[in-house]
Amino acid sequence: MSNFKYKRNQLYCEGVNIKQIAESAGTPVYIYSYQSLVDKYKELSQAFASLKPLICFSVKANSNLTICRILTQQGAGLDIVSGGELYRVAKIKADPKKIVFAGVGKTEEEIRQAIKTKILLINAESEQEVEEINKIAGELGRNVPVGLRINPDISGGGHHYIQTAKKEDKFGISLERAKEIFLKREKFPHLNICGIHFHLGSQIATSQPFARALKKVISLTKQLRKNGIKLNYLDIGGGFFGSANKFAQAILPLIKGLGAKLILEPGRFLTAESGILLAKVLYIKERKDGKRFIIVDAGMNDFIRPSLYNAYHEIIPVVRKPQTANRKPQTDIVGPVCESGDFFAKDRKLPLVKIGDFLAVMDAGAYGFAMTSNYNSRPRPAEILVKKDKFYLICEREVYKDLIRREKIINE
Ligand code: LLP
Repeated sequence: MSNFKYKRNQLYCEGVNIKQIAESAGTPVYIYSYQSLVDKYKELSQAFASLKPLICFSVKANSNLTICRILTQQGAGLDIVSGGELYRVAKIKADPKKIVFAGVGKTEEEIRQAIKTKILLINAESEQEVEEINKIAGELGRNVPVGLRINPDISGGGHHYIQTAKKEDKFGISLERAKEIFLKREKFPHLNICGIHFHLGSQIATSQPFARALKKVISLTKQLRKNGIKLNYLDIGGGFFGSANKFAQAILPLIKGLGAKLILEPGRFLTAESGILLAKVLYIKERKDGKRFIIVDAGMNDFIRPSLYNAYHEIIPVVRKPQTANRKPQTDIVGPVCESGDFFAKDRKLPLVKIGDFLAVMDAGAYGFAMTSNYNSRPRPAEILVKKDKFYLICEREVYKDLIRREKIINE
């Protein structure tokens, strides 16, 4: 059940009228529903309840401290990809024993930081990285739990930019190489190589790619078991997007009896539908042939998914006007950035709006704010959390000063 709904033709998030937020916080602004986050977490954990997996929210999808905190309060762990994310999640006092760390290019400093924090698992993506972790673990006098991220050579997911598990992709280690590393694990005395990880891509709506990857992994684990190697963790990454129940029904039978703790790394699943981006209509240009451009005050720097992946996001008016509901001219919704790629919708039939109206870009809670930039020297938007009939500023809008804070004028 969505927590963004019309009541008497006004869009609400939980018990708060969105227009009220727009008027008090300004636009562009991201708005998140507390209840949606909690509901999505529960939906997933209930679907997988029989295995009690560790659900590690993929921080890259939405790294706002409050959002991460809401999920960890529900019991979530965290999937991180950088020292910066580790720094963030330390600020919310996340339990290190529920943190997993993936990433194809971890620096020595990041590895050191992760080891010192005593996180649950570092998922290594190459043999050299395994060697590097072993070296640093030795220096720090630690024994470090490590998973191998395998590349199962499987396609899945939406845009090719977000597929990650074909052998052409930079991610992970082939199954054969992974097996070799497991077999020579004595060469890495400071590691406990005890997990297998994969991540197939993003926006995967069916369970088939997971089933195919799991079959490959299960065959590997059987071979390992014959060699006396037992896995503690099976981390099947994120990327799934759809019915948690269907996903769980397809996956659970394959995993039961494996004896390893299941780890999931959902990003989009937990946060996408929990957030919207709100923008204000600045201008409306109508071409003689009837085509319309609605220019809004949010740009590709505020939300890049349509520009970058040609992603479809529903766009709806904050105030619905039933009397004009049948008139829907062909429309592009575009931003103020100096690029033709700066659009939120192309050639869509959208209702009539006027200058000053607010529009909501739906399903913007994952990879929305997280991928903002200052392109065109545009300050980043604010973020608001709604809980029942109250709303809270969880990230201030940037101001011009923020744009130049770290710059120096050199007069040589
Ligand atoms: N685990 C790993 C190792 C990942 O690389 C990712 C996402 C996830 C989990 C979470 O995937 P999710 O459940 O959110 O699909 N910027 C793109 C998505 C890139 C995803 C990168 N890795 C987008 O806006 O669609």
